[in-house]
Amino acid sequence: MKIVVWNLKGGQGKTVLSLSIALLRGSYVVTNDTYSPIEKVLPEGHALQMDPDDDLPQVPDDIELIYDFGGYPDARVIEAVKQADAVLIPIIYESPLEMQVTINALEEVERYTDKIVVIANKCQGDDVEKVREVLGQFYDYPVLEIKKSTAFSKAIEQKKSMRELMESSKLLEFHYKKPLAQLEELLSFITE
Ligand SMILES: Nc1ncnc2c1ncn2[C@@H]1O[C@H](COP(=O)(O)OP(=O)(O)OP(=O)(O)O)[C@@H](O)[C@H]1O
Ligand SMILES: [Mg+2]
Repeated sequence: MKIVVWNLKGGQGKTVLSLSIALLRGSYVVTNDTYSPIEKVLPEGHALQMDPDDDLPQVPDDIELIYDFGGYPDARVIEAVKQADAVLIPIIYESPLEMQVTINALEEVERYTDKIVVIANKCQGDDVEKVREVLGQFYDYPVLEIKKSTAFSKAIEQKKSMRELMESSKLLEFHYKKPLAQLEELLSFITE
């Protein structure tokens, strides 16, 4: 299984989503971003930081690989998108105008795949509805919600999955329930 997490727009949660999924499922993460924290967070051998002239790694389909590409043009993004079982496009809602870069990213990606899932990320209030409303004018890709939560940064900081953090504390068990449920919903959506 290959998952690409991408948006041309920076800071939308590509790395946070990639790492949260990998910590939960033991997946491998590959990035083209030299400043990425993935090697510090994931177990030895589970993260690969490609050099600018490296080809995509060749791995069998039964290995779960997540591509966390930086928000800049790179021919390898297209290559990975063509091979991907799912392409996740995270977007943090600010305003309809701010969504233009994400729409450009969608237009680029949909030339190569239809396995696109938009992730309305770091949601508060009715953000997910607003994302659905704006994108719905152009596309009918599924839009799934991931709420704003400290669970994501805590898991990454502590190099543990959200589930492990919840098992270690009654308080966190309650507090992280919703974000974990949303992450699992997303995973069952793309793996079904
Ligand atoms: N669901 C969430 N809840 C709370 N904070 C979040 C959530 N998703 C992302 N963030 C925060 O948003 C910021 C940007 O996330 P991240 O670094 O993953 O974005 P990115 O798309 O990988 O950025 P870049 O383009 O620089 O690689 C981080 O500070 C992260 O902690
Ligand atoms: Mg990143």
